[in-house]
Amino acid sequence: MAKYIKDVLIRREQIEEMCRRLGKQISQDYAGREVVLIGVLKGAYVFLADLARQLTIPVCIDFMSVSSYGGGTRTSGIVRIIKDLDMDISGRHVIVVEDIVDSGLTLNHLRDLLGTRNPASIAFCTAFDKPDRRRVDIRIDYVGIVIPDEFIVGYGLDFDGRYRNLPDVAILGDDGQGGSQ
Ligand code: IMP
Ligand code: MG
Repeated sequence: MAKYIKDVLIRREQIEEMCRRLGKQISQDYAGREVVLIGVLKGAYVFLADLARQLTIPVCIDFMSVSSYGGGTRTSGIVRIIKDLDMDISGRHVIVVEDIVDSGLTLNHLRDLLGTRNPASIAFCTAFDKPDRRRVDIRIDYVGIVIPDEFIVGYGLDFDGRYRNLPDVAILGDDGQGGSQ
């Protein structure tokens, strides 16, 4: 089914403000400590880059790649590790950075997995949150912007590998609803 960019949901200025707010909050909460930011690839790469530059505390950065989606827009419930961390996180303060929390299955799985590696602490930060679609109860420590139950693209988020580079966040529509490419 063909998809198209329907509406801009969140403008870049709002995203910048969100990064400043979260960066300030995290810097205050972790004052005097060093954190390891773990970006969940691929979607989190844009947000992680912006968030990290708002932090005033010492930061290390690593990435993991997990997959919970096929080509579609709904979660399969299956989370697979495609690339593991390079770093040893034992005794470190870890913040997992996600682009979006949808069902919560990915973060739930990462909490269990990373918890076995004895970090000093583990927290979760997401740019966008779709609470209406949650399938597991999960606490997210730092939430950027809560969004309605729509499939969004841009700012790192993709559909079938595309649109990650859009500076604003847009709602993706199905073919036949009008709108422009
Ligand atoms: P969850 O495991 O269902 O919480 O899904 C988390 C992952 O699904 C995110 O990291 C995204 O990669 C993907 N995802 C969920 N909703 C969207 C969306 O609206 N647009 C693009 N990707 C999404
Ligand atoms: Mg993702």
